[in-house]
Amino acid sequence: MKVLEAKKITKLFPGVVALDDVDISIYSGEIHCIIGENGAGKSTLIKCLTGVYKPDAGEITINGKDAGKERSLFRRVAYVPQEINLFGHMTVAENLFLPYEKTGVNGLINQKELNQRALPLLKDFAINVEPEMLVRDIPVSAQQLIQIVRATVCQDYQILMLDEPTTSLTTEDTVLLFDIIRKIKATNKAIVFISHKLEEIFELGEVITVFRNGKRVAHERMPNVDLAWVITKMTGRAMNQDETFYSEKVTDEVLLEVNHVTGACFTDVSFKLRKGEILGFTGLVGAGRSELMQAIFGYLPAYGGSVKLNGKPFKLGETNYSVRHGFIYLPEDRKKMGILPMLSVRENITIPSLSKLTRYFSISRKRESALTEAVISAYNIKTPDAEKKIQFLSGGNQQKVIIGRSMSCDPQVLVFDEPTKGIDVGTKAEIYRLMKKLAEEKGIGIILISSEMEEVMKCANRIIALYHGEIYGEFACGEKKERILSAIIGVQADSKGSYAHD
Ligand SMILES: Nc1ncnc2c1ncn2[C@@H]1O[C@H](COP(=O)(O)OP(=O)(O)OP(=O)(O)O)[C@@H](O)[C@H]1O
Ligand SMILES: [Mg+2]
Repeated sequence: MKVLEAKKITKLFPGVVALDDVDISIYSGEIHCIIGENGAGKSTLIKCLTGVYKPDAGEITINGKDAGKERSLFRRVAYVPQEINLFGHMTVAENLFLPYEKTGVNGLINQKELNQRALPLLKDFAINVEPEMLVRDIPVSAQQLIQIVRATVCQDYQILMLDEPTTSLTTEDTVLLFDIIRKIKATNKAIVFISHKLEEIFELGEVITVFRNGKRVAHERMPNVDLAWVITKMTGRAMNQDETFYSEKVTDEVLLEVNHVTGACFTDVSFKLRKGEILGFTGLVGAGRSELMQAIFGYLPAYGGSVKLNGKPFKLGETNYSVRHGFIYLPEDRKKMGILPMLSVRENITIPSLSKLTRYFSISRKRESALTEAVISAYNIKTPDAEKKIQFLSGGNQQKVIIGRSMSCDPQVLVFDEPTKGIDVGTKAEIYRLMKKLAEEKGIGIILISSEMEEVMKCANRIIALYHGEIYGEFACGEKKERILSAIIGVQADSKGSYAHD
């Protein structure tokens, strides 16, 4: 049965046509996947279909009635947004029920009862937290699951819309989520699912709609399509899936030498990085890869060990020192650590180089815009203009701003922490090419942390596997996937010389 139909939806933002004359129909008991490059308009569509945004043109009917006129119909649509938006300072139970909760005669909420009601839900969804815990103290993947539970508990919904729900989930949590989604579907509810992870689309989807530049470009039943079809529709061109991105100009010169470094989540780690090399770090979530790099960068403490950069001792524990000496860490959590969301693209690009852009006693606007324009064009950043607030750029373009910005700090070592999280296939390849170019043309040493095995295997000259904060294997590119996989789940590499750091 058709529960929702949208016809000729158009949504405009200053300088952007986010949705252009879009039609879509959602049926109950069906999993409908929506895909498209970053900025294609997926989230905007979902926000129109859930009543968050009012489209500039077009009509939406739910159960055959006009939702534009009867806005209460949007209550039939449960929605899990792309960003986590829970109240960190409130408890899990409060976050689950509060917006809908009645207060008692004294104006207070019965916390005990709330906690009791939360318990079975947490159990059903296998979320391993207590109802009275504060949301800010629980792991991101649990937060993401809580958001999903919250969307489903409080209203009598017919459609569940999930906007990239798996970006912060571990593999196990994703499996769990998919079970939950299938159960919900079995109760004849409609599911709309957005993801950049194409293997998830193939696993879960029954029908697929593809968007490009705000337009709906294709719609098919899942069994009728393959990977090549999806990529071609999404990007408008065929893409070579076998392209590799190793640096072909690795030198013998050791750039970074890490000796027996130990911190809270990792023990006795030693490795070397050469000029022009791309070194991959793989492992499960929680293996200590980010913590290790953050400790070298100075953001987290290191308890012991030493580091040399260009043969000279490198001071640990001071981020300013690291940036000044060209060791730059590009964080995984762009929103929290990477961008300044309320500032413009220009300000986000120029902030680390303001001292260089100063003339006499003030910032030279001319130099500032020259730098901004140079970065926008060099990194092919899609933005209507440099004054746009960066929070309105799509994820991939925010990432490119962060990379572009770090270039003005004269990097020698660049650490990319999950650089393609939430990024579409086309832009992924662009970012890989960028890393390769930086390594080959500027001799920068690149450290790539990634949970996506395909990604490290395509880009890294060498791969180090971490397990529980220890190096479990080191592999040259072209190594068999099975051997790397066994190292990341804690099976020590065999004697094939995998441990030699040279
Ligand atoms: N609130 C806003 N104000 C201005 N522009 C916006 C706003 N929200 C989205 N846009 C713009 O509309 C276009 C579509 O964005 P949208 O977030 O829908 O893309 P998306 O397909 O969800 O991308 P991603 O995969 O990166 O999440 C983009 O060009 C984006 O910059
Ligand atoms: Mg989106």
